[in-house]
Amino acid sequence: MKARVLSGIQPTGSPHIGNYLGALKNWAKIQYDYDSIYCIVDLHAVTVYQQPAELRAKIEELAGMLLAIGIDPLHSSLVVQSAIPQHAELAWMLTCVTPLGWLERMTQFKAKSQAQETIGDGILQYPVLMAADILLYQAAIVPVGDDQSQHLELARDIAQRFNSLYGETFTMPATHLPTVGARIMGLDDPQKKMSKSETGSGHAVSLLDPPAVIRKKILRATTDSNPAVEFDSPAGHPGPGVRNLLTIFQAFTGWSDDNTQAHFTGMRYGDLKKQVAEAVISALEPIQTRYQEIMADRGFIARVLANGAERITPIAQDTVNKVKKAMGLYSDS
Ligand code: TYM
Repeated sequence: MKARVLSGIQPTGSPHIGNYLGALKNWAKIQYDYDSIYCIVDLHAVTVYQQPAELRAKIEELAGMLLAIGIDPLHSSLVVQSAIPQHAELAWMLTCVTPLGWLERMTQFKAKSQAQETIGDGILQYPVLMAADILLYQAAIVPVGDDQSQHLELARDIAQRFNSLYGETFTMPATHLPTVGARIMGLDDPQKKMSKSETGSGHAVSLLDPPAVIRKKILRATTDSNPAVEFDSPAGHPGPGVRNLLTIFQAFTGWSDDNTQAHFTGMRYGDLKKQVAEAVISALEPIQTRYQEIMADRGFIARVLANGAERITPIAQDTVNKVKKAMGLYSDS
């Protein structure tokens, strides 16, 4: 039997090249080697207010995008989290074994709770729901970008705690990061992770940006005062902005470090940016074409999501039954 993979993405904002290089590209790549489940996590999205009609539209668009980047519904189960009520059911049971201190220590919770005067309980519980997504399917491998590493550690801690309190129940999930592109930084500020919620027009390249927009964003990317690319210089070059551009280039083209260094050493930043932009454009072009084709057949998307849910609901129910039994909760199955 193949090991199980699970990962998720929130249907908020517009998916960008950080999402693609950090996670989605890997999802498509490993789906033939594992029993894969990819989840559009709408219950996570509503931890902050979402305009309902917009959220509903974004779920379908994201499903279309995941198919466009190569998720193959004959091999992977593509699902929407809220269509499978066992996610929320297991999340409650896991909440009850999770010490509050573990959640208050999470970087994402600390950042979000400091930024707002009042904060929804959903933000605190967010990583427990994420642990439930993973543990519900006994996933062994979770392909994500580096920003999810802390959440994954917590998922393992929760699984371990449950297993030691109630007996072996959950598989321990391993974090799977890409070798290049695990943390793509913002083009406008290479100290900040590229993020869907950041609204600056020069911050992220969306997977649906037309070529002219991609060129403009990359040509304006923040670099440093050096005129040309240098590697391992005593002055600390390449700086974070240039390093980010080189990472984007390598992640899209698959070029080795040696080839990249030989090719770009001494190149002026303007020329580097042009080459990075063209690499991004040519990688996104086929994805954008497929996306338009897929979005013309909404019935197809609905069928893929329904089939995915039908295929994996028995796995989710089986875990919930096991957990209820282990905890002594009432169950007639
Ligand atoms: P989300 O929706 O923020 O991002 C989806 C995936 O994209 C990765 N990613 C990045 N990778 C590299 N560079 C970046 N700048 C960048 N920005 C985002 C993320 O690491 C992620 O893999 N909590 C998750 C969703 C989730 C989940 C799960 C993931 C819910 N349940 C269960 C795995 C397993 C999130 O908000 O991802």
